[in-house]
Amino acid sequence: MKLTIIGTGYVGLVAAVCFAKLGHYVTAVDREHIIQDLRENKLAIWEPTLQEMLETCRSDGRLFFETDVAHASKGADALMIAVGTPAGVSGRTDLSQVDHVIAQLKQAEDVCPPFIIMKSTVPVGTCDELEADLHAAGLRTEVVFNPEFLRQGSAINDFMNPDRIVFGCRSHLAKAALHQLYRGINAPIQVCDRRSAELIKYASNAFLAMKISFANMIADVCEDYGADNRQVMQGVGADRRIGPHFLQAGIGYGGSCFSKDLQSLLASGNAIGRSLPLLEATAQINEERIPQLLEKLISIWGNPRGKRLGVLGISFKPHTNDIRDAPFLTLLRLCYLYGIEVQTYDPVVQPATIEGVCQMDTAYEAAAGAHAIIIMTEWPQFAELDWVLMAQLMYQPILLDGRNVLSEEVISRLMAVENVIYIPVGRPMEQTTLTLKRDTSTLRHIYGT
Ligand code: UGA
Repeated sequence: MKLTIIGTGYVGLVAAVCFAKLGHYVTAVDREHIIQDLRENKLAIWEPTLQEMLETCRSDGRLFFETDVAHASKGADALMIAVGTPAGVSGRTDLSQVDHVIAQLKQAEDVCPPFIIMKSTVPVGTCDELEADLHAAGLRTEVVFNPEFLRQGSAINDFMNPDRIVFGCRSHLAKAALHQLYRGINAPIQVCDRRSAELIKYASNAFLAMKISFANMIADVCEDYGADNRQVMQGVGADRRIGPHFLQAGIGYGGSCFSKDLQSLLASGNAIGRSLPLLEATAQINEERIPQLLEKLISIWGNPRGKRLGVLGISFKPHTNDIRDAPFLTLLRLCYLYGIEVQTYDPVVQPATIEGVCQMDTAYEAAAGAHAIIIMTEWPQFAELDWVLMAQLMYQPILLDGRNVLSEEVISRLMAVENVIYIPVGRPMEQTTLTLKRDTSTLRHIYGT
């Protein structure tokens, strides 16, 4: 098939590369400077295997880049929209990028493909409205909703091996075109109406976010009662009706999707007077994670002003350089507020990405002279660091393991170092007992015991 994809962000570019790999001829469209870089095989996003796949698909003559929607749409069997749909005013989705594509298509009516496949996450009813708009302009194209469920950091693998593929469409012709597009991917296919497909995307992200907030809420209860949330969630997740995934407690979820989609769903509900209390609680629990964790450090430090915090991991999750809505940004704002200095290390986020943040070249440099270290993302290499050396490099060896990455073995080795305090999430804190000079009433205060 000949496919045109508008938008070369995470979803658009990964889809372009994967559909080309599946044997289709793909032309991806974006703004001039982005296309310029892509034509030189330069990627703004860091995603495992994406670079190699991009180069292969281009040299195989299956992947092309263009800047003009009309030109790229000529002769295409379908056009896929994968532009950004960020949060707009009061949480409602900002559809301006989608509207811009539709406006361009209306001007290029002689080349508009028979199917427009919406990949961007859009509020329920959007595809109906867009199709009505196109029909009113005299275009006979059908708008299909085909949600994407890939995760950053494992995007290619998720795209090629999805749990399910959803087609929200009206006609048999559209369904057949989508089947042809996805030929070669072995996954259950669900065909339904467009509105249901649009809601499947929101409800899936909302449910995943809810699972994480649930795990975080229970983690707090574990701390209250001295239980271990890893054990608790292992036991809970072993029930096949619940499942073991997305039950890892920590610093809360981040990224460009969960918060935005939750807010959009809440805003849609609000607009029609429908309250969604489960989603409100999910968002609230998440918002409280970082302030709560920082409070633990402040309770130990006393006065936070002038303290130096080493941060390991800036991106919202490992295996990506994406910092959109990263919990780190919330941490940073609070640190500014409290007068805490921040020095960071991240394996892939480029230095000078965030203004005013001191980005170090190694984790050890981020630890040097720090009054505490916080692990924000669970990069596997963080677990492999020489943590005894890390503690020795610090001014005050307090380790806040926001993702519970350190093994029992590493923790027990650490306990041999003077004055170490290890603060995990959702289980009892550990501290060196030998030479600890602090008043333990502060610690009792932290956990309320
Ligand atoms: C999420 C969904 O998982 C994808 O299915 C969806 O396609 C995507 O949003 C989207 O709508 O585009 P993504 O945001 O890339 O994918 O990453 P996730 O792996 O879902 O992680 C989101 C956040 O939750 C991260 O900050 C992660 O650290 C956090 N998380 C995840 C936890 O805190 N605990 C967990 O158990 C799992």
